[in-house]
Amino acid sequence: MHSGNKINVGIAGLGTVSAAHIHACARLDRVRLVAAADPSEVSRQRYANHGMTLYADVEQMLRSEKLDALCIFSTVATHEAIAVAGAKAGLHILCEKPLALSVTSAQRMVAACSAAGVKFFYGSTNRYLPTLRRARQLVSDGSLGEVVLFREEVIGGAGADAYQPMSFEHYPKSGPGGGGWGLVDHGIHMIDLFSWLTDRPIEAAFGRGDLSGNEPHSEYAMLTLRDSPATGHLLYAQNTYSTDLPAHGIFMRGRGWGNEGFHTAGVWDPHPACIHIYGTHGALRIHHYANELFQASAEGMKRLTIEGPPPPIQFAHQMAAFAASILHDTPAEIPGEVGVDALRVLEAIYRSGETGRLTPVAPDLSESRGNS
Ligand SMILES: NC(=O)c1ccc[n+]([C@@H]2O[C@H](COP(=O)([O-])OP(=O)(O)OC[C@H]3O[C@@H](n4cnc5c(N)ncnc54)[C@H](O)[C@@H]3O)[C@@H](O)[C@H]2O)c1
Repeated sequence: MHSGNKINVGIAGLGTVSAAHIHACARLDRVRLVAAADPSEVSRQRYANHGMTLYADVEQMLRSEKLDALCIFSTVATHEAIAVAGAKAGLHILCEKPLALSVTSAQRMVAACSAAGVKFFYGSTNRYLPTLRRARQLVSDGSLGEVVLFREEVIGGAGADAYQPMSFEHYPKSGPGGGGWGLVDHGIHMIDLFSWLTDRPIEAAFGRGDLSGNEPHSEYAMLTLRDSPATGHLLYAQNTYSTDLPAHGIFMRGRGWGNEGFHTAGVWDPHPACIHIYGTHGALRIHHYANELFQASAEGMKRLTIEGPPPPIQFAHQMAAFAASILHDTPAEIPGEVGVDALRVLEAIYRSGETGRLTPVAPDLSESRGNS
């Protein structure tokens, strides 16, 4: 058990995102990485000299180690079983997005944590990106007037022949799927951000999502908010080409994903990830991984200075918040229910694709939840 100023953490899954989390933990004095489990020997080999005891099986790690918390960074299809086992072992849980493959699966995870009396922290890591925190402040202090539109598009890759769907290990056939820049894997961030940035729950959705294993097509969603004129628009098509001119690009001031892969700071990204927020008195262009934020208003367009370390600092902020909630016994800043809400919206989009109708996120529409 934690000694009062440090938590002992076990990790499930040593793939791509784990690297970012493990790197982030090095700067945190309240987190001790004790052990990690991954069935892949290749994945385990990468961490042979990181001071963690390594296991091929999560359950074996849970039986052998004295942990306070379990961080779930494994393939999406494995999240539920690992979270339930961790909660039963009395561990606080941090789980990467998307929580699960369905609302009902995610609800079982929440229920298991609640029954065990442990904290359940949803890894909506992008809430900790410096530009997005600043954007939220500008929305809430009225700098943009009334927000009327939120927009993200990721269009283009290297055509249909080079299109890479997410692996079936993450998203088994016939369930939510598509590419890494599609609705379930990437849009799930945006669904949560739209609600968090505007502090309103998403009420209804119109759109279409890809099923894993099917031919890819364009995925899109139009989302409406409760008590707000704002709509959110997401548009994804990875199996085509971008029509962006080179001038659309930006120098990365942080590290993160663009639709050509992962970029380090200081390089030119011709297709940088970008979110737009439009209000009646101003608008924002947010390059959240590049750590650049521009504000448009009657005075023209200005570049805002972003304080503090750039991405991937979001992983450290999130882990610090998780540790603080355990050490101070305070509620998780982003509770698991937020991850369930995001999946509810996603399922409404998929249903809308079948019926061709605007689809309420109800019956169990929940309030916007989460951190300040
Ligand atoms: N927050 C972010 O910005 C961000 C970025 C990338 C990925 N993610 C999320 O992180 C999670 C992992 O994604 P990734 O890109 O690292 O995937 P990945 O495929 O690179 O790695 C997944 C790892 O999980 C391991 N694994 C599979 N079954 C396991 C089990 N039963 N127990 C323990 N480990 C198991 C695999 O062997 C692999 O090493 C996903 O939920 C993904 O959506 C989040």
